[in-house]
Amino acid sequence: MQILDGKATAAQIRLELKGAVEKRKSNGEKTPHLAAILVGNDGGSLTYVNAKVKACEQIGFDSSLIKYDDISEAELLAKVNELNNDENIDGFIVQLPLPSHIDELKITMAIDPLKDVDGFHPENLGKMVLSLPCFLPATPAGILELLKRYNIETSGKDCIVIGRSNIVGMPLSIMLAQNSNPGNCTVTLAHSRTKDLKEKVAKADIIIAAIGKPNFVTADMIKEGAVVVDVGTTRVEDSSKKNGWALKGDVDFENVAPKCSFITPVPGGVGPMTIASLMINTLRSMELRGK
Ligand code: GUN
Repeated sequence: MQILDGKATAAQIRLELKGAVEKRKSNGEKTPHLAAILVGNDGGSLTYVNAKVKACEQIGFDSSLIKYDDISEAELLAKVNELNNDENIDGFIVQLPLPSHIDELKITMAIDPLKDVDGFHPENLGKMVLSLPCFLPATPAGILELLKRYNIETSGKDCIVIGRSNIVGMPLSIMLAQNSNPGNCTVTLAHSRTKDLKEKVAKADIIIAAIGKPNFVTADMIKEGAVVVDVGTTRVEDSSKKNGWALKGDVDFENVAPKCSFITPVPGGVGPMTIASLMINTLRSMELRGK
């Protein structure tokens, strides 16, 4: 069994991006600038956004963190519009989830697709489906990058993606099935109405767990030698930790790991790769906008 070390892989990607930014700077080209909007006081969202800003600093990107305790939908739309028109901002994200009085789809659709480094805008998702140049959603792209850097063969493999969210399961199931590398999998997209889930998981060569239920995937469900990718990041109470909680994946890591050929840990697996992908997209925004 080998660990798919997202933390180390993301650090390597940051180094590569740092080199690319230094080269841009020495050529007198613009430094990429990422902005992140955070609304509310969700602890998890704050941690992720801070990690995104820190990654920018490490790479040498400019970054802006725009925080609101609360904001109306109209005010947030106005801010999105302002960032769309700000020549200095190359890409920006609005951290999800948003408070319930704000329509997430309305906000996502207001973002200029050429600055949508999360790849959530319908125009980018549509282009992704057609394999046209676009921003790929960060978590699925990070997972594919991790599989690629560990030379994991995906072509012809049976893959099950558990969970059909708009930002992970649904796009990832499409990307894994595309004629690309990594890709060319035969994909099953499982969800809450799936029948005989255990039997389906047991047949899979590659299992992606993205449902947000701690320890959902257990050792009896998987076949020997499977590749297991855990996207879950649920905070559960843990009095042995200083902050009182621990991050738990969707996979019962301790018992599943010995049966796998490769497995991602939580934390240190998919999470850092999501941030690395966002950084790749931010550099790519310069290219897509001809800067
Ligand atoms: N919430 C959970 N994951 C993400 C992400 O990748 N981007 C944004 N904007 N919000 C998220």
